[in-house]
Amino acid sequence: MPLPTAVRIVEVSPRDGLQNELLPVTIETRIALVERLADAGLTHIETGSFVSPKWVPQMASSDAVFSGIRRQPQVTYSALTPNMKGLEAAIDAGVDEVAVFAAASERFSQKNVNCSIADSLRRFDPVIRLAASHQLPVRGYVSCVLGCPYEGRVSPTKVLEVSAELASMGCFEVSLGDTIGVGTVGSVRQLLDCLIPTLPASELALHCHDTYGQALANISAGLDYGIATIDTSIAGLGGCPYARGASGNVATEDVVFMLNGMGITTGLDLDHLMATGTWISEQLQRRNASKVGATVSATH
Ligand code: HMG
Ligand code: MG
Repeated sequence: MPLPTAVRIVEVSPRDGLQNELLPVTIETRIALVERLADAGLTHIETGSFVSPKWVPQMASSDAVFSGIRRQPQVTYSALTPNMKGLEAAIDAGVDEVAVFAAASERFSQKNVNCSIADSLRRFDPVIRLAASHQLPVRGYVSCVLGCPYEGRVSPTKVLEVSAELASMGCFEVSLGDTIGVGTVGSVRQLLDCLIPTLPASELALHCHDTYGQALANISAGLDYGIATIDTSIAGLGGCPYARGASGNVATEDVVFMLNGMGITTGLDLDHLMATGTWISEQLQRRNASKVGATVSATH
């Protein structure tokens, strides 16, 4: 399979990046982050999450983020919607796209959405139908595709079963979440060998957390299979509140640096991305987890 010539980056930092922060993040900072990301050229920004604020307090008031941002016409501003209540709030907020999220592990599903995998899929059915009636594209996430914090190994056939179900329910793309960053090139290959005969690479994305430092290698393995949509987070922000110890998503800056080196276009301005990563790390008073961003800001 030839490498893709262009990759679409889905920036998840305003959602995945901020949902796990310990310090409260103001609405103004959330809005400024989304606007800076759009200014850096990102065209798909996961801007918030319409989940229960009791479960994920950092994502409360995502409606205020949507109403506060200066929108750019080329940008898709999306949000997570776990149920009808979330979808209705997302529609009121004027989202451009929504995402439902399931898991390939039963115990993670219970911890994350308080129900079994099968029940979560049943719950998504009306969500996907209502979204379609509003012409809103629906993305599907599958968590724990390469390992679960509670169950350990996850079988590729289980990932296939959940991913294929999401696709058949109407998700235009399934993002494969290595929630705790335990995947390796070997396990990514095993997974994609199992998935791709049924789900084409053009309908898949990779969502790698970088806990064990394997994310760039795993993404490179995914590119070999023709996957051309990659989820990333500026400054490597992020984590999942229901996957303790998992680090952030792979840093946008690091992925763009790697893709630039491979001659794969993203349409993104690396200097602008690095400035945004430095800025948000300062705002959150945390170490910049992008190796590229941290190195360049230390040498300037
Ligand atoms: P539940 O407690 O079973 O739901 O939670 P419920 O229907 O019984 O409702 C309980 C309360 O929540 C009620 O309020 C509802 O109104 C409220 P009360 O009557 O007690 O005052 N509620 C809501 N409020 C606002 N928005 C809503 C909503 N729904 C119910 N949409 C539920 C079920 C799914 C709601 C809950 O478990 C939840 O919100 N979970 C979200 C967990 C989450 O956001 N996790 C992180 C995102 S997933 C992730 O990070 C992985 C990913 O990055 C990929 C990867 O890395 O693998 C995507
Ligand atoms: Mg995630």
